[in-house]
Amino acid sequence: LSHRPRYRPVPKAELHLHIEGTLEPELAFALAERNGVTLPYATTDELRRAYSFTDLQSFLDLYYALMAVLRTEDDFCELADAYLTRAAEQGVRHAEIFFDPQAHTARGIPVAAVIEGLCRALDRSEQQYGITTQLIMCFLRDQSAESAMEVFDAAQPFLHRIAGVGLDSAEVGNPPAKFRAVYERAAAVGLRRVAHAGEEGPPSYIREALDVLGAERIDHGLRCLEDPGLVERLVRDQVPLTVCPLSNVRLRCVDTLAGHPLPRMLDAGLLVTVNSDDPAYFGGYADDNFRAVREALALDDETLRRLAANSFRAAFLDETTRAAYL
Ligand code: ADE
Ligand code: ZN
Repeated sequence: LSHRPRYRPVPKAELHLHIEGTLEPELAFALAERNGVTLPYATTDELRRAYSFTDLQSFLDLYYALMAVLRTEDDFCELADAYLTRAAEQGVRHAEIFFDPQAHTARGIPVAAVIEGLCRALDRSEQQYGITTQLIMCFLRDQSAESAMEVFDAAQPFLHRIAGVGLDSAEVGNPPAKFRAVYERAAAVGLRRVAHAGEEGPPSYIREALDVLGAERIDHGLRCLEDPGLVERLVRDQVPLTVCPLSNVRLRCVDTLAGHPLPRMLDAGLLVTVNSDDPAYFGGYADDNFRAVREALALDDETLRRLAANSFRAAFLDETTRAAYL
């Protein structure tokens, strides 16, 4: 009998999580079988061996290809249930979940199947998993501005289920300003706004996301460190940055976890949070990322508590709920 107290992950909010990036190989194969989709891999091990990325695009190619197995409302519900089960084990109490509707509508899947499937799982999440949730609909920045507008139109009947909009996919060459119009429409109907910026793209994309899109939170934001004036602004305005350490290593935005700029970002006074991005692909969920940075960067307990507190400070929570977490 062991008397060692069971490890308890610190309660936290997950603010940078692509639901499609939680598709584990086992579920991918199960859905492929059910939907009659043939995957170009014989086994889950063979698929896992393909998870060796050289940059963002090399990951995105596989990420979009594997989505072929997601076809029905039930599939999206199962995907979200599987994520929430894991998130609960990892101390996640609140999750703001990205989804990529264009990656599905382009394959003939109606946006209704995506949102209604996800919502079926999310609607019982607080009861079933003790996790409150929100949905953030992302536009694919490597698709056209017109395509973003079309999916925003298609999502009109479901906007009451959506807390905000985001911007993701291949960053370099697709600056935020390309999506000014659709973000203006999102703002006009009271949606929150976030955007990936400064993952592979330059610091100027972070400025543009703030100035042109009205982004309230920056996803990744790593490359702000190249622009001291921008860091000063992000610190002054306490703009949250949703950093994803394991993702950054796997997509080679940083060389090693031990060399991750997270401590420098904290020391600069930036409101940084630790998140998992695409945990099925990058080797870990929320607390796996917390434990990885604790080890690799020798973070003390106080710093880990600060990161957890930051996650609730950066979340789109009402002030009563936020206060209960802090
Ligand atoms: N889509 C899923 N994960 C992403 C990431 N890390 N960057 C950009 N787009 C993404
Ligand atoms: Zn991301």
